[in-house]
This record gives sequence, C-alpha cells and structure tokens, in this order.
Amino acid sequence: GCLSESSVVETCNEAPLLLRVLRCDPSVPRPPVWFMRQAGRYMSAFRMYSGRYAFRERAETPEIAVELSLQPWRAFGVDAVIMFADILTPLPPMGLDYQIVSGQGPSIKTPVRCMEDVELVRPLTPEDTETALSFVGTTLSTLAHTLADARPRPALLGFLGAPFTLAAYGIEGEGGRASSGKQVKRMMYTAEGRELMHRLLQKITQSMIVFAAYQARKGAEAIQIFDSWAHLLSPEDYQEFSLFYVEELVRGIRAHGVETPLIFFANGSCGKLGVISAMYPADTREANGYRGLDALALDWRTSIAEARQLFGKRAVLQGNIDPTVLACGDTASVKAAIDRCVCAASGGAHILNVGRGIQPDTPEEMVALFCEHVRALPETDWYQ
Ligand code: CP3
Repeated sequence: GCLSESSVVETCNEAPLLLRVLRCDPSVPRPPVWFMRQAGRYMSAFRMYSGRYAFRERAETPEIAVELSLQPWRAFGVDAVIMFADILTPLPPMGLDYQIVSGQGPSIKTPVRCMEDVELVRPLTPEDTETALSFVGTTLSTLAHTLADARPRPALLGFLGAPFTLAAYGIEGEGGRASSGKQVKRMMYTAEGRELMHRLLQKITQSMIVFAAYQARKGAEAIQIFDSWAHLLSPEDYQEFSLFYVEELVRGIRAHGVETPLIFFANGSCGKLGVISAMYPADTREANGYRGLDALALDWRTSIAEARQLFGKRAVLQGNIDPTVLACGDTASVKAAIDRCVCAASGGAHILNVGRGIQPDTPEEMVALFCEHVRALPETDWYQ
C-alpha cells in the first residue's frame, strides 16, 4: 500500500532506502548497502576503543556502543546503522555468562552439557530486558534519536542470534572459527541429547521473541536474525534443529504484534535453499496467515542467482560478496564483484552486503570505494 497515495509516497521517499527495499518499493534508485560486522577492528577509530575497553564494556556502555555503531555510517555513508552488541549479549541474564577473548572469540563460562544445565537456563522475561539488558534499549533509543534528522537517513538495525546458533554457542562454550561442533552433534545424534537440545532450543526461542520485541519497542526498524552456525547442519538436520525454531521465533514475534521487518542470515545456505523456500516469505505469508520473514541474507558460497530463480521477484535478497575480496582484492576486483552480484540478484529487491562478516584486515579505503561504487550504480529498474 506504500504507493497508493501521493502524500504517502512523499513520506516513503524520506524513509530509509533499506526500509523501502524491504517493502519491495519498486522506485528505489539503487540497492542499499551495509556490511555485516561493519563496526570492527578494521577501522582505526574502532581500535581506539577496542584497545582500551574489553568487548563487553564497549557493548554494555551505551555511550561507547552508540559511538561504535555510528562510526561506519560517518566514515562510509552506509545505508544502515546496526547497534553495537553481540549475538551473545542476551545470554548472561539467562544464566549463560560469556566473555570475548581477544583474538579467540566468545567463551561461555558454564556450557550446557546435561539436562540439569538446561534446566538452569532461564528464559528471558520482558522485565529482564528492562533491567539486565536496558543498555540495549538505551543504545537503540539514543541511536534512533541521533539519526532522526539525518538526510539521507540510514535504517536502524537490531539483531539477534538464531536459536540453533545460540544453542551451539551455549553447548560448545566457545566459538573459534575452527570449532567442529562436535559437542552439538553429540547431542543431536543421541536420543537423550536430542531431547535436551530441543528443550534448550525452546528456551532460547522463547527468549529471543522477548528480546526482538524489546528491540522493536526501543527503535529497531528492522532486525537481522543471524544463523551463523547453520553451516554445520545437513539439510535434513537444518529443518529439525534450525528452521523449525526460526519459524517459531518469527511466529512468536508476530504474535506480539511486532511488524518490524525481519532479515534472516542463513549461513551455509548453499544446498539448503529448497528447505528454506518451504518457509520463506511470499508463500508462508499467505499460506500461514502471518507475516513471515521479510528478507533472506545469503553467505558468499551460495549462488544469489540461484536463489533469485528459486524465490522469484517477490523475495528480498541480501548479500553476498566474499568479504575476502575487500580484504585483499584490488579496486577493479571489488567493483567487478559488486557489478556481478547486482546482476546476479536482479529481477527483485536486493540489499548489497558481504556474505559473512568483514575481516579485521580489510583496508578502510576499500570499504569506502565499495560504497561509492554502489552509490554510482546506474539507475535502472531493479525488478526487470
Ligand atoms: O555488525 C556490527 O558491526 C555490529 C556488532 C556485531 C558484533 N558481533 C560485534 C563483535 C554483530 C552484529 C555481531 C554478530 C555476531 N557475533 C555473529 C554473527 C555474524 C557472523 O559473523 O556470522 C557471531 C557468529 C558472533 C560471535 C562472535 N563475537 C565471534 C565469532 C567473535 C570473534 C570474532 C573476531 O573477529 O574476533 C565475536 C566478537 C566480536 N563481536 C567482535 C565484534 C566487533 C570482535 C572482538 C572485539 O571487538 O573485541
């Protein structure tokens, strides 16, 4: 209904490009661009803080989190500001305390290994968000206020971990890139373990529904759900241990009356597009009578052209350039990667992004060049 009245059109054109794309507004001049993990060590302004404060202090002090969230927008003019936090941020009030160990990644003090451990996990309540997680709300509302008068105004993004990914961190207790997920699989492939796993997934799903509603209430205009560890799963296990709970999560969020657009980052989606399509937007919206996911973010190993073909023009796709191109490619390669991605995703709404987090050794000039190239893309009908 965004295009039906002229007064509404005016409001819509003031709206952040990213939100217009999420509504499939066909009049957008170019794809919006932002980067997963855009606030990070590759920026010298960020290192001024990361050298001085531990990760959780940065994430849990609103003045610092606001500053770090804004840095990539100020430096590169990205079309979205994502709040500075981590997918593990909501875990401590649930009884899962964590630290980010410099150079190694997350570490959970008391990983979940047996049924008693699962019983000790406390689902997040709305009261918890207002107390133990109030820094998230303060960061979001301050960002919303700060960005209100910006023209063009970037979209304000919140995020959370998908139930499977958070369960995997909770069980493994650490998140080194090389982690095999052995502890998780020990659970998935034993009768007892499976029960435990599903119980944990339920508690996390319930918690993330509450956390998403809180972020929406505090000013998040779209929320990305990171399923960063889904690459560990076969397509069959993916359905049982991840997608089932993503659907529960989305249904729960909508049942709270939250209409905020949801972007689902399905890491390792290559080989799983078929199962994803069974739940993805256009179809589910009508079939299940609820508003499902609004966009699908792909990792860089997945063919965005194949996804476009499978999902058709009504799907909003996000991604999916190999972040290594920005870390070690030359300018011609970066521009070529963008052109190829835009072309492959064409035929429907597209949000440009990398297909995994930006790497710490990425030159800032490359990120600037990336954004400039996207802004200079010829204006075409993206739906053709
Ligand atoms: O995107 C942003 O700029 C917002 C902030 C953000 C962080 N983590 C800050 C962070 C977001 C959206 C995340 C999400 C996140 N965290 C994911 C999903 C994205 C993905 O990569 O798939 C995952 C898997 C995590 C868990 C996590 N946190 C890991 C694996 C690490 C270590 C990786 C590393 O580079 O060291 C973290 C720590 C972390 N979270 C850092 C940042 C900027 C780096 C450490 C630091 O700054 O001290």
